[in-house]
Amino acid sequence: MSLTPIGAPRQKITVASLREKKLHHEPITCLTAYDYSAARLVDEAGIDMVLVGDSLAMTMLGHENTLSVTVDEMLHHVRAVRRGVKNALLLADLPYGSYHVSANEAVRNATRFVKEGGVEVAKIEGGEKRADLIRQIIDAEIPVAGHIGLTPQSVNRMGGYKVQGKSLSDIEQLMRDATALDRAGVACIFLEGIPREVADLITGEVSAPTIGIGAGPGCDGQVLVFHDILNLTFGPPAKFVRRYGDAAAEITHAVQAYRADVLSRQYPADNESYHPSPETRQALEAVLERKRAMRGRRQITAVE
Ligand code: KIV
Repeated sequence: MSLTPIGAPRQKITVASLREKKLHHEPITCLTAYDYSAARLVDEAGIDMVLVGDSLAMTMLGHENTLSVTVDEMLHHVRAVRRGVKNALLLADLPYGSYHVSANEAVRNATRFVKEGGVEVAKIEGGEKRADLIRQIIDAEIPVAGHIGLTPQSVNRMGGYKVQGKSLSDIEQLMRDATALDRAGVACIFLEGIPREVADLITGEVSAPTIGIGAGPGCDGQVLVFHDILNLTFGPPAKFVRRYGDAAAEITHAVQAYRADVLSRQYPADNESYHPSPETRQALEAVLERKRAMRGRRQITAVE
């Protein structure tokens, strides 16, 4: 196994490189990003895949779930992320409603992602029942990522964010979903919120790389939400989330320190202020001196 060291010069990641990594048992890294600065940091840190997830409805826009975010809202974020990503493969979620009405509309929306957002892979939730649709999008030359298990766009049907694949019949359905996606030719399959044993089974069965989130360590790759790993979500994390930083504490600390400095007039200091050139400064001082002298004369006249 040849793991690229952190900070080493990198090659552009493509759909083909994901397959290569699966073949060579090289773990695939994926993280969400929703804006330019986060995208740059994630890309420059060497992450393989950047996903503009529709989770941005919650993390960036403060909605309760992902259902209301639109194609235009997604594109707004996708374009910003595109400008920050150089080497990673750029994926984006087709949001709820953008591929559910008709195949034509789905292909049109996926095409907009490519033309207007520079997306390289469009992600779609659902298994077996989406296979034909996925084929049509792939026929339009757009690589597709599948997403099965806990699919957040089905929150109302699932009755909440619940771990999937607990009964034997559910596991059989997940296997059918995964193989249908694989046969349709997806670039990769996201496995969310399923027992690790089921994820292992699927990963061994399909040729497409599996990218797990709450699906255990046996997947070909892992994805987490940027805001989750940095403690930027307001609430208890899911079981599978590991915090790698506390940006909320850092931001709060910095904002409070700035506020205190402004209130105590310690910000800005002289070296954080602009100054005129020495000649202009001299001329300015002469003007100020004349003004002071005039003011002094006026005060004497007023007293007399
Ligand atoms: O929307 C999202 O962020 C996702 C991933 C977490 C898989 O779909």
